[in-house]
Amino acid sequence: MELTHDSLQRAASEHLMLHFTRNGAYGPGRTPLLVLDRAEGPYVFDTGGRRYIDGLSSLFCAQLGYSYGTEMGQAAARQLERLPFNTNWSTAHPPAIELAERLAALAPEGLEKVFFTSGGSESVEAAWKIARQYHLANGEAKRSKAIARRIAYHGVTLGALSFTGVESMKEPFGPSPIPVTHVSNTNPYRAPDGEDGPAFCRRLLDEIEQTILAEGSDTIALLIAEPVQNAGGCLTPPDGYWQGLREICDRYGILLAADEVITGFGRLGEWFGVSRYGVSPDLLTLAKGLTSAYAPMGAVLVAEHVAKPLYENERTLLHGITFGGHPLSAAIALKNIEIFERDGVLENVRNLEAHLQARLQELRSLPIVGDVRGAGFFWALELVKDEAGTPFEAHERERLLRAFLPGRLLKAGLIARADDRGDSVLQIAPPLICDTDVLDRIVEMIGEVLADAGELLGMPAARLAEVA
Ligand SMILES: Cc1ncc(COP(=O)(O)O)c(C=O)c1O
Repeated sequence: MELTHDSLQRAASEHLMLHFTRNGAYGPGRTPLLVLDRAEGPYVFDTGGRRYIDGLSSLFCAQLGYSYGTEMGQAAARQLERLPFNTNWSTAHPPAIELAERLAALAPEGLEKVFFTSGGSESVEAAWKIARQYHLANGEAKRSKAIARRIAYHGVTLGALSFTGVESMKEPFGPSPIPVTHVSNTNPYRAPDGEDGPAFCRRLLDEIEQTILAEGSDTIALLIAEPVQNAGGCLTPPDGYWQGLREICDRYGILLAADEVITGFGRLGEWFGVSRYGVSPDLLTLAKGLTSAYAPMGAVLVAEHVAKPLYENERTLLHGITFGGHPLSAAIALKNIEIFERDGVLENVRNLEAHLQARLQELRSLPIVGDVRGAGFFWALELVKDEAGTPFEAHERERLLRAFLPGRLLKAGLIARADDRGDSVLQIAPPLICDTDVLDRIVEMIGEVLADAGELLGMPAARLAEVA
């Protein structure tokens, strides 16, 4: 029996618990739930047949957009007919081995080993356990703490949640199992030295070094950071920041982990975001774009020198995930890499980044847009109350980011993200196959929606007629 639009709305409200959602807000007679039924290229269609540009790539996952289903399906069918499943627990199978080899070849120098997971939180926790076992093997059992950054999101399973720097997500669940100290992120907007890149960078790195010294440098196992931090709104690093992280970690024997769950696989125009900043981390976490979300999968890339002690003295890696490296997902990830190379996906992002940035910068003429920041196909507009850049207060955020923007964006035909884990931002991360026309349309839609938002809040109209 095919479920109709109405029966899906009813059944969802009765049975389906939505993630990170005010579940009670949706259902018949309340806010309609967006139920997506099919997709094509950069577009998704709801059960009523309405088309939207997926300006968020289904939560930063759908790098290839949605038109490779047949090709992916053929790769999946071949694998399912041959070997539907086996684990990576003391056994292996060709697609996991081949994928590990491909990833090691694409990765920044030194990252030779690959541990597969089913998603991002699992990758972050696996990276932590590998780091701990590395230090233990080296006789440094005291290294039991980590450094992460404020507002950063590194996942929500309890281990990964320790690294996440959003207090409201952690508070109900008590003390973190991993002691993590959070330091400043790289948000230059409103920072007193934010416009002076070298001074800003120096201050951030000094803060990290002082934190390490205050905690006891021989007690820190890991420093984890995203190349461009998502939460807070596409926080790019100042020049020299990643080199600085590398130097500090080397100085104090701390492992450097790049969390590339979002920035990996082309989001910044490179296979891995750290390559853009010229640094090789010791551990690199992946998920989302690894398969372009045609199947769930995550991975941790591990530097040879980190893995080495784990291969010695009859040591056992004390971590395993049943579905980590599932042959179906591995076959799809291999096909994803093949398509990226064949169809010039990284090149598309590199070619169009400047255009997207220039078009988004035009939106600064709207008084509600205080800052435009990002890289590759990963951008945020910081939304502000006035020309002085005053942040919205809680009740205004409620009205703007929850009551108004989500519905108005959908009405315009765009999926984008209004977020206030840090200050208020509107974020886009379109599929990496988008052409100029689609990117332009996304910017126009945002312009229309934000002009209306400004009006709602009684702000002056935009100075640029074409934007409004
Ligand atoms: C940087 C980062 N790390 C980890 C995660 C957790 O990934 P998952 O939701 O697949 O567990 C996310 C999810 O958005 C993320 O953005």
